[in-house]
Amino acid sequence: MSSKKVAFCLLAAGKGTRLGLECPKPLAPLFEKKMIDWVLEPIFPYLLKGNALFPILGHKKEEVSQHLSLALEEKKLKELCIEVYQEKQLGTGHALQCAVQQYPQLLEDYETVIVSCGDTPLLKKDVFSQLMERQEEGAFEAVGVSFIAENPQGFGRIVRGNQGEIRIKEEKEASREEKEIKEVNAGIYIFKSSFLKKFLFSLTPSPLTKEIYLTDLIEKSSHSYILSFKESEDFLGVNTLEQLSCCETILRKRFLSSLQQQGVRILMPETVYIGPFVSIKSKTTIHAGTHLSGDTVIGGSCSIGPYAVIKNSVIEEEVKILEFSSLENSQVGARSSVGPFARLRPDSVLQEEVKVGNFVEIKKANLENNVKVSHLSYIGDAEVGEDSNIGCGFITCNYDGEKKHKTVIGKRCFIGSDTQAVAPIRLGDDCLVAAGTTLVQSLPEGSFAISRTPQKIKPNYKKRKK
Ligand code: UD1
Ligand code: MG
Repeated sequence: MSSKKVAFCLLAAGKGTRLGLECPKPLAPLFEKKMIDWVLEPIFPYLLKGNALFPILGHKKEEVSQHLSLALEEKKLKELCIEVYQEKQLGTGHALQCAVQQYPQLLEDYETVIVSCGDTPLLKKDVFSQLMERQEEGAFEAVGVSFIAENPQGFGRIVRGNQGEIRIKEEKEASREEKEIKEVNAGIYIFKSSFLKKFLFSLTPSPLTKEIYLTDLIEKSSHSYILSFKESEDFLGVNTLEQLSCCETILRKRFLSSLQQQGVRILMPETVYIGPFVSIKSKTTIHAGTHLSGDTVIGGSCSIGPYAVIKNSVIEEEVKILEFSSLENSQVGARSSVGPFARLRPDSVLQEEVKVGNFVEIKKANLENNVKVSHLSYIGDAEVGEDSNIGCGFITCNYDGEKKHKTVIGKRCFIGSDTQAVAPIRLGDDCLVAAGTTLVQSLPEGSFAISRTPQKIKPNYKKRKK
């Protein structure tokens, strides 16, 4: 990397009118973060001592500034950031003028200025080092970046003259022939500060839109260059909701392939959503239709899905989360199995080798090692001791209409099918509860409980009825 000092100017003052969201454009939600977070990611590695970031803010600047401060503080880069305010959004060239007006030392303290847009969230960090290298090699005054777009709509076109001269024509101002050009401006540039000193303030507004275009600087230079790339998704700019969701799809695919490279097997990846904060160890298989989001951690050799939904949860190794199960803010210990059709609501903790079967709902409950709840049960506000077996259709009656109460079941208990425990209630270790029982009193260790209406048998009932 160059030893010369670089100022990174990030244009982020625009309203994002075409996006039409409530929030300012840099804070548009994108793949579980804000758009600006993705924009900053490839810039962070360059924010070393000597280099600095100049975000140019305007529309709803307080909101953007607050978010930016937190993001930079997290990376311990806050002191390398100098915010600029563009009160009226008079164009990308005007935005850079604001930076120089508000921080006149900019063109003295930094040898080069890199400009990039707050709405190109797919850039990779190499593009900046390539820009710097090319500028240095050729001692260019200005270097822009272009790429070939199958659909160039909305981008500035690179118009190359016969004598090697280059202009960038904004779409609104391009002729019909120019609109056919597929080589477009990516919106990233490097300028020599000495060049900006001479020409930045000589930019004049477009007669058509009255905006001052940064792109006009390229033709003002007698020694400029365009670094051209083939068709590339990396340069996609977000001006519309459709482009925003396109970016989300690309970021999601990139994250899935990074997981695949780390040894995670993903079946039918086009149907799977895995958020950027999720971590998964190798030898785990993620099946079709699965949705993993938030701060979810998944251990190795697990099998998740198909169609599992997991949010903010920790899954240890060798766990099976079977089809159509939903987990939120929960923990599942090693070698446990959940589902199909199980629901773990917040604060559910399954320790090791626990089985939670179909149509079982768990909420705010701790199930110790080797507990089995195989079918059709609700366990809420409860503790279940190790090796206990809960039969089909068990219910903790935890709510009296006003308050929630707790159920505690000891170790090695056997709870028969279709039973209810009216909380608050406590069962000691080694208790046996007969099928059909409604428990209303606590049980001492080793006891047996049964509450059943005695069965009546009426022989020859059918005949008598006739
Ligand atoms: C811009 C380029 C276009 C390029 C495209 C790449 C210009 C004139 N056009 O068009 O050639 O192909 O990006 O994505 O530069 N902004 C400000 N202040 C302003 C205006 C804009 O800070 O007064 C910021 C916006 O917030 C945005 C960036 O500059 O982050 C680009 O502005 P935008 O309006 O999106 O320009 P495009 O039409 O996309
Ligand atoms: Mg744009």
